[in-house]
Amino acid sequence: MMKRIVISLLMCLLMSGLVYAKEDAKMKDTFSVIHARKSVRNFTGAPVNKADLDKIIKAGMTAPTAANMQPWSFIIITERKILDDLAAGLPNAKMLTKAGAAIIVCTEPDKANGKSKDLAIIDAALAGGNILLAIEALDLGGVWTAAYPYPDRMKHVKTVLKIPEEVIPLNVIAIGVPAGQDKPKDKYKKEKIHWEKW
Ligand SMILES: Cc1cc2nc3c(=O)[nH]c(=O)nc-3n(C[C@H](O)[C@H](O)[C@H](O)COP(=O)(O)O)c2cc1C
Repeated sequence: MMKRIVISLLMCLLMSGLVYAKEDAKMKDTFSVIHARKSVRNFTGAPVNKADLDKIIKAGMTAPTAANMQPWSFIIITERKILDDLAAGLPNAKMLTKAGAAIIVCTEPDKANGKSKDLAIIDAALAGGNILLAIEALDLGGVWTAAYPYPDRMKHVKTVLKIPEEVIPLNVIAIGVPAGQDKPKDKYKKEKIHWEKW
């Protein structure tokens, strides 16, 4: 009887140890993705598969939004010609010619209510941040290239993609298989942190 109790206790200890180990591994994994993320601008030209793009968009849609309005839409591009057409009118997005895909995060302030309208750009930017992390998690490379707030760039993206007038394209996120070994920048600066007061 005693032996059975001791064995059960040992099993419980072992199981709880495994649970903690698993949680710890999950936590480390999240932080390793956050710390490994970097802008990647050199791609092999290989396509990005649709299952990965779906995972990336889902990650974008988990982002928080003011009053949970979710005033956003996402355009996924995989066609070579459209990627090239976008690149042609975006001065800082020439890497699109070698990207396998792109995601345009759009914000739709009209889909938010009164006060939340002013926060729609922030809502979409947070989705964009999640998208960049998901790209890193899948061992792909990505870079946010700006459309908003440049009128000429937004106009170009809207024309190429037939985006309605009231919708604002924030960016064109180039996605691809990295051609190099880009490293994350170390941006941790203690002097930027203020504890309790400025
Ligand atoms: C709002 C925003 C606009 C950006 N626009 C461009 C762009 O047009 N072209 C580009 O190559 N990178 C662009 N970037 C990427 C930044 O240059 C990059 O995030 C920054 O240099 C820090 O490097 P890291 O992403 O590797 O940490 C943009 C990033 C943000 C957040």
